Amino acid sequence: MIHIERLRRRYSGHEWEPVEAGRSGAGVWRLTGTPSYFVKADGNRDHAGLSLRGEAERLAWLRASGVPVPEVVEQDADDDVAWLVTTVVPGRTAADDWPRERHGALVDALAGFTRDLHTIPAGTCPFDRTLAVTVPEAREIAEAGLVDLDDLDDERAGWSADRLVAELAATTPASEDLVVCHGDLCLPNVLLDPETLRVTGVVDVGRAGVADRCQDLALMTRSLTSGELNPQYGPACADRFLARYGVAPDPSKIAFYRLLDEFF
Ligand SMILES: Nc1ncnc2c1ncn2[C@@H]1O[C@H](COP(=O)(O)OP(=O)(O)OP(=O)(O)O)[C@@H](O)[C@H]1O
Ligand SMILES: [Mg+2]
Repeated sequence: MIHIERLRRRYSGHEWEPVEAGRSGAGVWRLTGTPSYFVKADGNRDHAGLSLRGEAERLAWLRASGVPVPEVVEQDADDDVAWLVTTVVPGRTAADDWPRERHGALVDALAGFTRDLHTIPAGTCPFDRTLAVTVPEAREIAEAGLVDLDDLDDERAGWSADRLVAELAATTPASEDLVVCHGDLCLPNVLLDPETLRVTGVVDVGRAGVADRCQDLALMTRSLTSGELNPQYGPACADRFLARYGVAPDPSKIAFYRLLDEFF
């Protein structure tokens, strides 16, 4: 896997604990010490349009815009490896096991956070994740053979990359309701204070940028209804999230943004 020996030596006073990796293939570690940090490391290349440099730039911009995100401690790369060291966001992720009686308030907090994020004036955001950028990028990823066809949503299980590309072209929305989106707004990427249920921060912002609000609504409601990944929630929680958010999204747009996510 990734050669991070140099980084390990620099933070040798910390205890390195691997965090179960997400889908990007990046390595993530929690570094326990004073203070503690998180390290994300990846091959020094763009992976599906993502880079740790891009993630660090987004963290800095979001922070300056008042969005709670970790602080960048360092971001750099050598010939082989890129890495990102950040401060720790306190709290527990929304994907943790929360007591059932707190689910309603937790979902309301997620919706309030999403609403606040989406009220940042899109014109101030330098990161473009509109369809003019993401659809061609998705096509390039498919052409390069980089779509993980073994990890498709159930409704597309067994599809070929060509079929995904054809469906993407056939269902691309004609218009976009542009806001500042997180870009991968799923339960494990949001942390909350266990006492107050306030959102303490979001992580994994490598795909943040200007996009249709359904980019975030589609992935959060999918996360809330994924019986496999987050069985503690369910459709009633997803409905509550949208009601609290306050916009009833177009179902065909929701379907499109979930399809688009298959490519990344
Ligand atoms: N700065 C941080 N503070 C608190 N928790 C963090 C931080 N960075 C990462 N984590 C934890 O580590 C997990 C994995 O990190 P992250 O989401 O950035 O990587 P990933 O999911 O592997 O990336 P990707 O989704 O791009 O594949 C997060 O879900 C979160 O629980
Ligand atoms: Mg993640």
